[in-house]
Amino acid sequence: MENIKLIATTNFGLEAVTKRELLDLGYENIKTMDGKIEIEATLSDIPKLNLRLRTAERILLLIDKFEATTFEELFDKVYEINWPDYIAEEDNFIIQGRSRNSKLFSISDSQRITEKAIIEKLKTKYKTSWFEKSGPRVKIEVALLNDIAEITIDTSGDGLHKRGYREVNYKAPLSETIAASLIKLSYWNKNRTLADPFCGSGTIPIEAAMIGKNIAPGLMRKFDFEKFKFLDESIFKEEKKICYSEIKYDEKLDIIASDISHKAIEIARNNSEILGLDEDISFFQKDIRELDLPDNYGVLITNPPYGERIGKEDVDELNKELGNLAKTLKTWSFYVITANEKFEKNFGKKSDRNRKLYNGRIKSYYYQYYGPKPKK
Ligand SMILES: C[S@@+](CC[C@H](N)C(=O)[O-])C[C@H]1O[C@@H](n2cnc3c(N)ncnc32)[C@H](O)[C@@H]1O
Repeated sequence: MENIKLIATTNFGLEAVTKRELLDLGYENIKTMDGKIEIEATLSDIPKLNLRLRTAERILLLIDKFEATTFEELFDKVYEINWPDYIAEEDNFIIQGRSRNSKLFSISDSQRITEKAIIEKLKTKYKTSWFEKSGPRVKIEVALLNDIAEITIDTSGDGLHKRGYREVNYKAPLSETIAASLIKLSYWNKNRTLADPFCGSGTIPIEAAMIGKNIAPGLMRKFDFEKFKFLDESIFKEEKKICYSEIKYDEKLDIIASDISHKAIEIARNNSEILGLDEDISFFQKDIRELDLPDNYGVLITNPPYGERIGKEDVDELNKELGNLAKTLKTWSFYVITANEKFEKNFGKKSDRNRKLYNGRIKSYYYQYYGPKPKK
């Protein structure tokens, strides 16, 4: 298992951001598709990518890819894979399935056939007819697209947005991977002020502080690959050590997180404390109408309430307020993610760039207003 293929799955519309992250990490042989990126890799890249990628959702190990139009074909091809290389006798292997535009459209049948083929193959090595599945989880997926079956193992386990710091959420939190993507799509860097006046659980400010201090996003959590029989524990430990050594503990950041809700600020501050970042972010309770920020080439990245998830309060009014703030902060750049179709009208200005993306299942837009470049 020297050369392997990994698949980084991404949020739809954000593939290019993950691609940029991979290029920055030095990966060259990568292929971008809808919602995923295929990467030529080696086993040691499994811990590396899981620990470091901020914008990907999962890292899958591609086991095989083949055409399958009948269940016999699916069974035979899955059986050909040497499953005892991947699955220990006690492992709790779980088969998940997907199918789109394929003759094998029944997901449950494809799952069942795949599991049967895996069990038959495992029996040849483990000499048992009953697998208790009492050990560590190994999630296997059979994904059919245009009659091509892709068999993968999910090395992440829980989605990578689960960083481990957001113990409590306030109302409608943004996914951590999306928050990191929004920051990566902006011109913010650690020398500029960042503000989120609708910070809720604090996702955007916390992700920014992690980027500013170079804290790998996966350091606080567990991954399924940690228990895989084919992955040496020492590779993970070594990679973790490197990540810790790269943290810039002394980096001074100027990150502002405010919200009208006292409860939200309490939750956001507690979440940041879990990472030891509470001193890097200045949290305070404030209505956006009363917010006073210095005109210092800062970058505002925010996710205002947009009705669908919060309830119809004064969404239009708040977007107008945001537009008023932009008028007073002439040197700032504004970045706003919202599902509100009337946003630009209420903000009072057409954006320099607008990107469509999905926040969960909600079609959203990322409106970008570029301020002047900071003076050197
Ligand atoms: C969509 S949520 C933000 C979610 C956040 N990005 C997160 O990850 O948790 C919108 C937030 O706007 C806050 N909000 C509503 N009206 C406000 C106002 N007038 N001024 C400031 N914040 C307000 C709400 O309390 C809520 O936390």
